[in-house]
Amino acid sequence: MRAGRRLAIGVGLGLGLGGCSGSQSALDAHGAQASALRDLMGLFTVVCGTVWLLVLLALAVAVWRRRASGREPAEPGATSERRLGIVVGVAVALTVLTITGLTFASYRTTRGLTGIADEGVTIRLRGYQWWWEATYQDQAPERVFRTANELRIPVGRPVRVELAGVDVIHSFWVPSLAGKQDIIPGRQNEITLKAERPGIYRGQCAEFCGLQHAHMAFLVIAELPENYEAWRSAQLRAAEPPADPEAARGRDVFLAKSCKACHAIRGTPAGGVLGPDLTHVASRETIAAGLLPTTRGSLAAWVADPQTVKPGSKMPLVPLDADELRAVSAYLASLK
Ligand code: CUA
Repeated sequence: MRAGRRLAIGVGLGLGLGGCSGSQSALDAHGAQASALRDLMGLFTVVCGTVWLLVLLALAVAVWRRRASGREPAEPGATSERRLGIVVGVAVALTVLTITGLTFASYRTTRGLTGIADEGVTIRLRGYQWWWEATYQDQAPERVFRTANELRIPVGRPVRVELAGVDVIHSFWVPSLAGKQDIIPGRQNEITLKAERPGIYRGQCAEFCGLQHAHMAFLVIAELPENYEAWRSAQLRAAEPPADPEAARGRDVFLAKSCKACHAIRGTPAGGVLGPDLTHVASRETIAAGLLPTTRGSLAAWVADPQTVKPGSKMPLVPLDADELRAVSAYLASLK
């Protein structure tokens, strides 16, 4: 059993390297807010870079002139003192003007980040140590569903993400789409995402939140509205009963062991809410918050020994023999 578990972990990890792909750069902007932030960053870089160069240039000229004259500085006369006063006055005025301009640009950009009206989609996102729970909201309670570590959003429509914390402070950050927003327990923050074109954008928790902070990633998958609606309808459905005998046995093992205490699979008696909803786990690109790609091998590795794959995570080791592990991984991999 131990050997089987090690093999499963090895296979899973081998497949898992570089599991979470997608753009994650604030310079590679694909959303309105990300573009505004990138432009602001560009403006600051150009202005501050120019000031820096001018200061260095002035310094170099001063040094060069002193060396060329070869004299000790004389006591300043009335004329040179007046000239010095004018130079300092102009420099102060330019500095005030530059800083005021940059402050205004920063203020305008910040206002623009929150000024997107008409939210088409609302997602309640909870940050946990160390994964993300996304609840897609709807007026009709039967159209509300939970998923994890992945957001699907329609292209061109503003998506309101309500950020709720339960344990420690996390920070929601998808550099290619928007700025950062902290997730603070006991306080409701929100951020609006709007993707300009379809794509996979990687996000990352941006506030140190414990041992697995670096493994608290997620994907935002922006799709054409019709694909998004099809995905949403599929997510609303309960899990299909397993078609093959091994997966069916895996479901029985899942329900007989302690898995259902933490995980829900709609359409089965499993209704736990402590861990990710697994109803359509195989439809997601990654498991364990962006750590591994969703393959049967990595599912087996994760179940076999979560504390080796992600030390400190809340997922406990549920003792399974090799046959049970194979069956459970077949079942989870079938939950499309
Ligand atoms: Cu959550 Cu860092």
